[in-house]
Amino acid sequence: MNQLKKILSSIITVVITGSVYAQDAAAPVAVAKQQVADNSNLALTPPMGFNTWNTFQTNIDEQMLCEMVDTYVSSGMRDAGYKYFVLDDGWMSMDRDSTGNLVADPKKFPSGMKAFADYVHSKGMKFGIYNCAGTKTCAGYPGTRGNEYQDARLYASWGVDYFKYDWCNTDSLNAREAYITMSNALKATGRPIVFSLCEWGNHQPWLWGKGVGQLWRTTGDICNQFDKDKVIGTWTAQSVLTILDKQDKIRQYSGPGHWNDPDMLEVGNGMSVAEDRAHFTMWCMLAAPLMAGNDLRKMSAQTHDILTNKEVIALDQDSMGIQGFKQLTMDGVEVWVKPLSGGDVAVAFLNRSGQTQAITYVWAEHNIKDAISKVDVDFTKTQYKVRDLWLKKDVGTTKGMYKQSIPSHDVLVVRLHALNQ
Ligand code: GLA
Repeated sequence: MNQLKKILSSIITVVITGSVYAQDAAAPVAVAKQQVADNSNLALTPPMGFNTWNTFQTNIDEQMLCEMVDTYVSSGMRDAGYKYFVLDDGWMSMDRDSTGNLVADPKKFPSGMKAFADYVHSKGMKFGIYNCAGTKTCAGYPGTRGNEYQDARLYASWGVDYFKYDWCNTDSLNAREAYITMSNALKATGRPIVFSLCEWGNHQPWLWGKGVGQLWRTTGDICNQFDKDKVIGTWTAQSVLTILDKQDKIRQYSGPGHWNDPDMLEVGNGMSVAEDRAHFTMWCMLAAPLMAGNDLRKMSAQTHDILTNKEVIALDQDSMGIQGFKQLTMDGVEVWVKPLSGGDVAVAFLNRSGQTQAITYVWAEHNIKDAISKVDVDFTKTQYKVRDLWLKKDVGTTKGMYKQSIPSHDVLVVRLHALNQ
């Protein structure tokens, strides 16, 4: 009930300030009078959800999306932790209305955007939407430039909980300033809205994004290929491994409430099951936002099992929020480590090579020291239980060695839990 009162009062604030703006262009004065949202507790773990772009691009409509929402619940995605249902580019009409407001395309959304947002909320999820800092979005729909406060108020009035802000058609705009303006506009609505910065890592958002938003893209767009980039006309979409290789050196900038975002998931979009499993595991090792991008209505049992593996998701959602790092490489296999709360540690073995690799891993030869999390693991002093998170089975301890065979482009991931402490 209190929550409902809070929401109602922020909606009233929006309505009141909306009329102030309509009569008076003195924005800073109006902003000072508003109740500003406190976003400091938003996204304390990496946001999880679904986004329309990777599968549907701009081919979205209310009916298909309602089916997706329903499947999101019936398939167990929501219960596995996926919370946000995000519409990417293509939801708008080509023109703003006579008051300057953006309009949901009436052909795609005959019931209007508020009704769709209400539907998402009625299923126990949160609702997200997209726009661009430039004059037009990447797909050519009306952008936000010059309308930041008006657009933010519209989103808040619809009940938007998550906003992705892209970077096409921005000419000479200063990225940091443009994102701060939109961040302030969102906060000024009084509604807590997760702010997802999407300027592809061009202006090092990890250096200034904390406090502006809760996550920032670190690279250009991902594609559904594991180790080969894809040339698409004038630009190149990046493979899973290309993106992975760009994350290690910026890991110190990620943490609770401010995440590096290596782009949305391509699980279930055409890679092999091994590659999907490796992609998903590595994104969890990176504490990456997990935005599914597949057609949930058609997902195979294997895709479902990957996306909803709770023990692997738990690595991603660990409350310490430490981004994992590469510990070493041996024979085409990379060993990645992610310190976890309670002294646990995740260790992933990623086979990047084209052949199956047999590994013999002597734990005592690979103690773990991490300057960022201050984690210091000495396997000669402390013994750990080893649990394989894809087999969902305990597989021994760190006393001996870990012998496994890893197929090409596949992964093994274990969780270590101290035994004698
Ligand atoms: C950019 C973004 C993508 C997607 C498209 C939409 O390329 O990086 O994630 O939002 O625009 O046009």
